[in-house]
Amino acid sequence: MSIDSQSILDSAVAEITDATSAEQVAEISRSYLGKKSELVEARKGLGALDPQERAEAGKQLNEVKTQIEAAVASRTAELKDSEFALQLESERMDLTEVIDRPIVGSAHIVTQAWQELEDTFIGMGFTVAEGPEVETDWHNFDALNIPPSHPARDGFDTIYVDHGGDESTTLLRTHTSPVQIRSMLTSEPPIYIVAPGRVFRRDTADATHMPVFHQIEGLVIDKGISMADLAGTIEAFTTSYFGEGFSSRLRPNHFPFTEPSAEFDIQMPDGKWLELGGCGMVHPNVLRAGGIDPEEWSGFAFGFGIDRLALMKFGITDLRELFTNDVRFLKQF
Ligand code: DAH
Repeated sequence: MSIDSQSILDSAVAEITDATSAEQVAEISRSYLGKKSELVEARKGLGALDPQERAEAGKQLNEVKTQIEAAVASRTAELKDSEFALQLESERMDLTEVIDRPIVGSAHIVTQAWQELEDTFIGMGFTVAEGPEVETDWHNFDALNIPPSHPARDGFDTIYVDHGGDESTTLLRTHTSPVQIRSMLTSEPPIYIVAPGRVFRRDTADATHMPVFHQIEGLVIDKGISMADLAGTIEAFTTSYFGEGFSSRLRPNHFPFTEPSAEFDIQMPDGKWLELGGCGMVHPNVLRAGGIDPEEWSGFAFGFGIDRLALMKFGITDLRELFTNDVRFLKQF
C-alpha cells in the first residue's frame, strides 16, 4: 500500500485530542476525511491494485476512516459539553443576598433609669401609678396643701395652659406629687405606689436644668405608718438600686405636703453625699383632700429626679446632652 494508514490515524487522533474547540475538530476532520485528503486520494489509487491487495487496502482505509470519525465525534461531544459548562458558569446569577447586621436601637438612658427604678420599687412591693401631664391647679397645688396664696406656688415656675377659659386652673404638672392625690381618690388604702413621669417648669436649659424633666413619686398609706418606715424604705431602696456600700440619711426640710418633711441624701462608697430628693409624712390636709381619714390612716411620700441619676450613672456632666437626641451620643450607652 502506498500510504501509511497507521501514521495517518495516529497524527489525526493526536490533533483531534489537542483541539480545543468543536470548530477546530471540524477543520481537522475535513483535512483528514475531506475530498482533498490523503485517505480519499489513496482510495482513488485502489483501482490500480490487484483484487487481493485492493480488498485488504480498502478494508484498512475504511477502518482508519471509521476510527477518525469516532475520534472526531467523541472529542466534539466532549468539547461541546465543556463549552456548555463554561457557558452555564459564565451566565450563572449570584443570588446570594448580602444582609448587613441589622441596626438595633437601645432604650434612652432616661428610660433605662426609669425602668430600673420601677423594677426596684416593684421588687419592694410597690405598684406603678400614672397621672396626666396636663393637670388642674387643684391636683398640682391646692390638694397638696399649697393654697393660691402660698409662696411655694411661685417657687414652682409653673407653665399654665391657655385653653380659652380661666387659664390659671390648668397647667403642666410641676412635679409628680399630684399622682398622690389621684391615687388616693381612685383607690382604697392600703396604698403602695410609685409614679414616674414627665414634669415641666418654666426654666432655661443649662447644664443642670431643663424645662422638661423626669421625677418619680412614692406614696405609702397604711395603718400605723411612721417616720421609721420612711427611713427604712429609703435605705432599702438605696442598697437595692445603687448597691452594697451605699447608704442614706434624712435631713430636716420643709414641704407643704408633708409634716414632718425631710430631704434624703445618698452616701456613695467614696464617702461623698448626694442630695436626691424630698420626703416626709403625708400632711393630714393632703390625706383629707384624697378622701382618706387621717385619724385612721397615715403614710409617707417621697419624690426625686430621674435624670440626675442617669447622668450620675454614666458620668455625663451636662443634662442637655440627654435631650439633644444626637444618636452618636446616645448610642454609647
Ligand atoms: N414634689 C417635690 C418637688 O418636686 C418633691 C417631693 C418632696 C415629693 C417631698 C414628695 C415629698 O413626695 O414628700 O420638689
